Amino acid sequence: MRKPVIGGNWKMNKTPQEGVELVAELRDDLGDMADVEVIICPPYPALLPIGSELAGGNIKLGAQDLYWEKEGAFTGQVSPGMLRACGCQYVIIGHSERRHVFGETDAQVAKKVRAALDEGLKPILCVGELLAEREAGETEIVVKRQLEAALAGVRGEEISTLVIAYEPVWAIGTGRASTAEDAQDVAHFIRRTLAGLYDREKSEAVRIQYGGSVKPENVKFYLAEADIDGALVGGASLKAAVFAQLIRNSTGR
Ligand code: 13P
Repeated sequence: MRKPVIGGNWKMNKTPQEGVELVAELRDDLGDMADVEVIICPPYPALLPIGSELAGGNIKLGAQDLYWEKEGAFTGQVSPGMLRACGCQYVIIGHSERRHVFGETDAQVAKKVRAALDEGLKPILCVGELLAEREAGETEIVVKRQLEAALAGVRGEEISTLVIAYEPVWAIGTGRASTAEDAQDVAHFIRRTLAGLYDREKSEAVRIQYGGSVKPENVKFYLAEADIDGALVGGASLKAAVFAQLIRNSTGR
Protein backbone atom coordinates (compact mmCIF):
# COMPACT_ATOMS: atom_id res chain seq x y z
CA MET A 1 0.00 0.00 0.00
CA ARG A 2 1.56 3.29 -1.12
CA LYS A 3 0.89 6.25 1.15
CA PRO A 4 -0.30 9.34 -0.77
CA VAL A 5 2.30 12.10 -0.87
CA ILE A 6 1.56 15.75 -1.60
CA GLY A 7 4.48 18.14 -2.08
CA GLY A 8 4.36 21.92 -2.08
CA ASN A 9 7.10 23.38 -4.27
CA TRP A 10 7.21 27.05 -3.42
CA LYS A 11 9.81 27.79 -6.12
CA MET A 12 11.25 31.30 -5.63
CA ASN A 13 8.49 32.56 -3.34
CA LYS A 14 8.24 33.51 0.37
CA THR A 15 10.70 35.10 2.77
CA PRO A 16 11.64 33.01 5.82
CA GLN A 17 9.09 34.89 7.93
CA GLU A 18 6.30 34.50 5.38
CA GLY A 19 7.19 30.82 5.11
CA VAL A 20 7.06 30.21 8.85
CA GLU A 21 3.65 31.90 9.01
CA LEU A 22 2.37 29.77 6.14
CA VAL A 23 3.44 26.45 7.65
CA ALA A 24 2.13 27.40 11.10
CA GLU A 25 -1.27 28.12 9.55
CA LEU A 26 -1.15 24.94 7.49
CA ARG A 27 -0.28 22.80 10.50
CA ASP A 28 -3.10 24.31 12.56
CA ASP A 29 -5.55 23.84 9.69
CA LEU A 30 -4.60 20.23 8.90
CA GLY A 31 -4.11 18.90 12.41
CA ASP A 32 -3.03 15.28 12.44
CA MET A 33 -3.11 14.15 8.80
CA ALA A 34 -1.89 10.60 9.21
CA ASP A 35 -3.27 9.27 5.91
CA VAL A 36 -1.28 11.55 3.60
CA GLU A 37 2.36 12.60 3.70
CA VAL A 38 2.82 16.34 3.23
CA ILE A 39 6.18 17.80 2.18
CA ILE A 40 6.93 21.52 2.06
CA CYS A 41 9.78 22.65 -0.21
CA PRO A 42 10.67 26.31 0.50
CA PRO A 43 13.62 28.29 -0.89
CA TYR A 44 16.97 27.72 0.86
CA PRO A 45 16.90 30.73 3.24
CA ALA A 46 13.58 29.59 4.72
CA LEU A 47 14.63 25.96 5.33
CA LEU A 48 16.15 26.36 8.78
CA PRO A 49 13.37 28.40 10.43
CA ILE A 50 10.68 26.26 8.80
CA GLY A 51 12.54 23.12 9.84
CA SER A 52 12.40 24.38 13.45
CA GLU A 53 8.74 25.30 13.15
CA LEU A 54 7.85 21.83 11.80
CA ALA A 55 10.05 19.85 14.22
CA GLY A 56 8.16 17.06 15.95
CA GLY A 57 5.14 17.37 13.66
CA ASN A 58 4.12 15.27 10.69
CA ILE A 59 4.66 17.81 7.90
CA LYS A 60 8.02 17.04 6.27
CA LEU A 61 10.60 19.44 4.90
CA GLY A 62 12.23 19.24 1.48
CA ALA A 63 14.61 21.39 -0.56
CA GLN A 64 14.19 22.35 -4.21
CA ASP A 65 17.67 21.36 -5.36
CA LEU A 66 21.16 20.47 -4.10
CA TYR A 67 24.71 20.16 -5.31
CA TRP A 68 26.47 16.81 -5.34
CA GLU A 69 29.74 17.81 -3.65
CA LYS A 70 30.03 17.71 0.15
CA GLU A 71 31.81 21.04 0.58
CA GLY A 72 34.37 23.34 -1.02
CA ALA A 73 34.79 26.07 -3.60
CA PHE A 74 31.39 25.92 -5.29
CA THR A 75 30.03 29.44 -4.94
CA GLY A 76 26.26 29.56 -4.73
CA GLN A 77 25.76 25.85 -4.17
CA VAL A 78 24.27 23.97 -1.21
CA SER A 79 25.39 20.49 -0.14
CA PRO A 80 23.25 17.49 0.85
CA GLY A 81 24.64 17.64 4.40
CA MET A 82 23.60 21.28 4.77
CA LEU A 83 20.05 20.34 3.80
CA ARG A 84 20.00 17.55 6.37
CA ALA A 85 21.23 19.98 8.99
CA CYS A 86 18.24 22.22 8.23
CA GLY A 87 15.85 19.33 8.85
CA CYS A 88 15.22 18.27 5.25
CA GLN A 89 14.18 14.69 4.59
CA TYR A 90 13.38 15.19 0.91
CA VAL A 91 14.89 17.09 -2.01
CA ILE A 92 13.40 17.87 -5.41
CA ILE A 93 15.84 16.93 -8.17
CA GLY A 94 15.65 17.61 -11.89
CA HIS A 95 12.67 19.95 -11.81
CA SER A 96 11.87 21.14 -15.33
CA GLU A 97 12.81 24.70 -14.36
CA ARG A 98 16.26 23.44 -13.36
CA ARG A 99 16.52 21.53 -16.61
CA HIS A 100 15.11 24.15 -18.97
CA VAL A 101 15.85 27.51 -17.31
CA PHE A 102 19.26 26.54 -15.90
CA GLY A 103 20.34 23.94 -18.44
CA GLU A 104 20.69 21.04 -16.02
CA THR A 105 21.56 17.81 -17.83
CA ASP A 106 20.50 14.21 -17.26
CA ALA A 107 24.05 13.47 -16.09
CA GLN A 108 23.91 16.24 -13.48
CA VAL A 109 20.51 15.04 -12.32
CA ALA A 110 21.99 11.55 -11.85
CA LYS A 111 24.84 12.90 -9.72
CA LYS A 112 22.37 14.82 -7.57
CA VAL A 113 20.19 11.75 -7.03
CA ARG A 114 23.22 9.71 -5.95
CA ALA A 115 24.48 12.48 -3.64
CA ALA A 116 21.06 12.85 -2.02
CA LEU A 117 20.79 9.11 -1.32
CA ASP A 118 24.32 9.02 0.09
CA GLU A 119 23.27 11.65 2.63
CA GLY A 120 20.02 9.92 3.53
CA LEU A 121 17.83 12.42 1.67
CA LYS A 122 14.88 11.11 -0.31
CA PRO A 123 14.86 12.41 -3.90
CA ILE A 124 11.68 13.67 -5.51
CA LEU A 125 12.87 13.04 -9.05
CA CYS A 126 11.05 15.12 -11.67
CA VAL A 127 10.59 13.95 -15.24
CA GLY A 128 8.39 15.24 -18.03
CA GLU A 129 8.22 16.25 -21.65
CA LEU A 130 8.05 19.63 -23.39
CA LEU A 131 4.98 20.55 -25.42
CA ALA A 132 6.85 20.01 -28.71
CA GLU A 133 7.93 16.56 -27.52
CA ARG A 134 4.36 15.62 -26.60
CA GLU A 135 3.07 16.85 -29.94
CA ALA A 136 5.75 14.83 -31.70
CA GLY A 137 4.59 11.72 -29.82
CA GLU A 138 7.89 11.52 -27.92
CA THR A 139 6.61 11.62 -24.34
CA GLU A 140 7.60 8.05 -23.52
CA ILE A 141 11.01 8.36 -25.18
CA VAL A 142 11.81 11.50 -23.16
CA VAL A 143 10.54 10.15 -19.85
CA LYS A 144 12.38 6.85 -20.33
CA ARG A 145 15.62 8.64 -21.16
CA GLN A 146 15.29 10.88 -18.09
CA LEU A 147 14.53 7.92 -15.81
CA GLU A 148 17.29 5.67 -17.11
CA ALA A 149 19.87 8.43 -16.78
CA ALA A 150 18.80 9.62 -13.33
CA LEU A 151 18.54 6.11 -11.89
CA ALA A 152 21.77 4.74 -13.37
CA GLY A 153 23.47 4.82 -9.96
CA VAL A 154 20.45 3.82 -7.85
CA ARG A 155 20.44 0.29 -6.44
CA GLY A 156 17.36 -1.89 -6.23
CA GLU A 157 17.09 -1.65 -2.45
CA GLU A 158 17.11 2.16 -2.69
CA ILE A 159 14.48 2.74 -5.35
CA SER A 160 11.48 2.73 -3.00
CA THR A 161 12.89 5.75 -1.14
CA LEU A 162 12.47 7.88 -4.26
CA VAL A 163 9.32 9.69 -5.25
CA ILE A 164 8.99 10.18 -9.01
CA ALA A 165 7.11 13.32 -10.06
CA TYR A 166 5.70 13.29 -13.57
CA GLU A 167 5.45 16.94 -14.54
CA PRO A 168 4.67 17.65 -18.19
CA VAL A 169 6.37 20.97 -18.83
CA TRP A 170 3.42 22.37 -20.78
CA ALA A 171 1.16 21.90 -17.74
CA ILE A 172 3.36 23.73 -15.22
CA GLY A 173 2.07 27.14 -14.18
CA THR A 174 -0.13 27.34 -17.26
CA GLY A 175 -3.52 26.35 -15.86
CA ARG A 176 -3.51 23.74 -18.62
CA ALA A 177 -3.44 20.62 -16.48
CA SER A 178 -3.04 17.20 -18.03
CA THR A 179 -6.17 15.08 -18.02
CA ALA A 180 -6.09 12.46 -15.28
CA GLU A 181 -6.19 9.75 -17.97
CA ASP A 182 -3.15 11.10 -19.82
CA ALA A 183 -1.26 11.53 -16.54
CA GLN A 184 -2.16 7.96 -15.57
CA ASP A 185 -0.87 6.66 -18.92
CA VAL A 186 2.52 8.22 -18.30
CA ALA A 187 2.57 7.21 -14.61
CA HIS A 188 1.87 3.63 -15.70
CA PHE A 189 4.66 3.89 -18.27
CA ILE A 190 6.99 5.13 -15.51
CA ARG A 191 6.09 2.14 -13.35
CA ARG A 192 6.66 -0.26 -16.23
CA THR A 193 10.02 1.36 -16.91
CA LEU A 194 10.95 0.93 -13.23
CA ALA A 195 9.88 -2.71 -13.41
CA GLY A 196 12.23 -3.14 -16.37
CA LEU A 197 15.13 -1.42 -14.61
CA TYR A 198 14.54 -3.25 -11.28
CA ASP A 199 11.65 -5.66 -10.95
CA ARG A 200 7.88 -5.60 -10.72
CA GLU A 201 7.72 -5.76 -6.93
CA LYS A 202 10.15 -2.88 -6.51
CA SER A 203 8.31 -0.78 -9.07
CA GLU A 204 5.08 -1.27 -7.16
CA ALA A 205 6.63 0.26 -4.03
CA VAL A 206 7.61 3.55 -5.71
CA ARG A 207 5.30 6.52 -5.30
CA ILE A 208 4.55 8.52 -8.44
CA GLN A 209 3.18 12.05 -8.32
CA TYR A 210 1.55 14.14 -11.00
CA GLY A 211 2.47 17.83 -11.15
CA GLY A 212 1.25 20.68 -13.34
CA SER A 213 -1.62 23.04 -12.48
CA VAL A 214 -2.91 20.83 -9.67
CA LYS A 215 -5.61 22.66 -7.69
CA PRO A 216 -8.04 21.79 -4.86
CA GLU A 217 -10.69 21.24 -7.56
CA ASN A 218 -8.82 18.67 -9.67
CA VAL A 219 -6.48 16.86 -7.25
CA LYS A 220 -8.86 14.00 -6.50
CA PHE A 221 -9.08 12.98 -10.16
CA TYR A 222 -5.33 12.36 -10.27
CA LEU A 223 -5.23 10.52 -6.96
CA ALA A 224 -8.06 8.27 -8.14
CA GLU A 225 -5.82 6.84 -10.88
CA ALA A 226 -4.14 3.50 -10.20
CA ASP A 227 -0.53 4.59 -10.68
CA ILE A 228 -0.74 8.14 -9.29
CA ASP A 229 0.05 8.36 -5.58
CA GLY A 230 0.21 12.09 -5.06
CA ALA A 231 0.82 15.52 -6.48
CA LEU A 232 3.64 18.04 -6.68
CA VAL A 233 2.02 21.43 -6.39
CA GLY A 234 3.40 24.86 -7.27
CA GLY A 235 1.05 27.84 -7.29
CA ALA A 236 -1.68 26.23 -5.20
CA SER A 237 0.79 25.55 -2.36
CA LEU A 238 1.47 29.24 -1.73
CA LYS A 239 -1.64 29.96 0.35
CA ALA A 240 -2.17 27.89 3.49
CA ALA A 241 -5.96 27.66 3.17
CA VAL A 242 -5.81 26.65 -0.51
CA PHE A 243 -3.08 24.06 0.05
CA ALA A 244 -4.86 22.65 3.11
CA GLN A 245 -8.04 22.27 1.05
CA LEU A 246 -6.08 20.59 -1.74
CA ILE A 247 -4.57 18.13 0.76
CA ARG A 248 -7.98 17.38 2.28
CA ASN A 249 -9.52 16.90 -1.16
CA SER A 250 -6.73 14.52 -2.16
CA THR A 251 -7.87 12.01 0.44
CA GLY A 252 -11.55 12.67 0.02
CA ARG A 253 -11.96 14.17 3.51
P1 13P B 1 2.08 24.60 -10.77
O1 13P B 1 1.30 23.79 -9.77
O2 13P B 1 2.17 26.05 -10.42
O3 13P B 1 1.63 24.33 -12.17
O4 13P B 1 3.61 24.06 -10.68
C1 13P B 1 3.85 22.71 -10.75
C2 13P B 1 5.27 22.45 -10.40
O5 13P B 1 6.18 22.78 -11.13
C3 13P B 1 5.54 21.78 -9.12
O6 13P B 1 6.87 21.38 -9.03
